[in-house]
Amino acid sequence: MRAESCLVLLACICLLGRASSAAAPAADACVADSARGCATSELPASSPASAHPYATMALLRKVPADSLFVSEPDPSWFGNGPNPSSNPHWTNKNWLKSRFHFSFAEYHDRARSQFGVLRVMNDDLVQPVRGFGTHPHANMEICTYIVSGDLTHQDSMGTRETLGPRGIQFMTAGTGVRHSEFNTDDTHPLRFIQMWMVPRSRNLEPNYGSMVGDRERQHNKWAHLVADVKNTSADTPVKINQDANIWVTELDEGKESTFELREGRQAYILCLEGATTLTAASAASGTSAQEKLVAHDATQAFGAATLTFAATGSEGVHVLMVEMAAAPL
Ligand SMILES: *[C@@H]1O[C@H](CO)[C@@H](O)[C@H](O)[C@H]1NC(C)=O
Repeated sequence: MRAESCLVLLACICLLGRASSAAAPAADACVADSARGCATSELPASSPASAHPYATMALLRKVPADSLFVSEPDPSWFGNGPNPSSNPHWTNKNWLKSRFHFSFAEYHDRARSQFGVLRVMNDDLVQPVRGFGTHPHANMEICTYIVSGDLTHQDSMGTRETLGPRGIQFMTAGTGVRHSEFNTDDTHPLRFIQMWMVPRSRNLEPNYGSMVGDRERQHNKWAHLVADVKNTSADTPVKINQDANIWVTELDEGKESTFELREGRQAYILCLEGATTLTAASAASGTSAQEKLVAHDATQAFGAATLTFAATGSEGVHVLMVEMAAAPL
């Protein structure tokens, strides 16, 4: 980012009055690309509602894997025994390796506090016979997508369930639930993506739901896994109390797939496995942008744009997208 953009960014942060310590992370703020607030604060107050507030914004904003905060918490924090000094089945020295896309636990970054209603995205790798002991949640819509391995969930609503790869489960935490999440397998690690979305209203009745994974459903096409309870045209296995959707696809090498990100919508896209070249094209402005994503890379995308994913990895690509109303956060 150019120096003047940094200055503009800082000015914006100050204008928004939410940067008591804005001066400290100036360089970081630019790297972390937190200009979401800027575009809106630059809008004239009299701007008509029909004006496109993001007209001058990039169609894509990459979040490279190496920019993510990596958390490797002490095993005792979640009630686990010590890490083994050596175990041939372990793929990481610590029981958990968690990549945080947004501020979470010990990670605080005002530039990455949330994206629209998406407040948490943790990409968790849990080693064999390890997991998260019982802990509480409230007032969040929590969706967990399993990339590999098996996740065993148990909660205070009486649910106990083990789901394998491509499975998804959700909880409306609402007034409060307690649950645990474990990898009970003694030879395979478990990788899952946990997403928290802010619900449209507080103190909802707790709820649980899930879907068993199905490769065919998402092979070389988009599968709509999560929709808004208010979306009457969606027959997704999971419904949440928010205007947000989760879509997944697995493309073979050389295949392409498009997704229409409509006007007034935005998406947070995570490359789970493999590699893809993503092109975003805006018919309205005649502009386009392109990013190459490999496993663990993410990108923000802003509609209206046609998103074309080309699978470039020799093992294809596995992509997860959280699509939602655009929000100037
Ligand atoms: C509602 O669900 C349909 C069917 O999957 C989907 O195409 C549409 O984008 C959803 N609408 C919203 C506003 O998310």
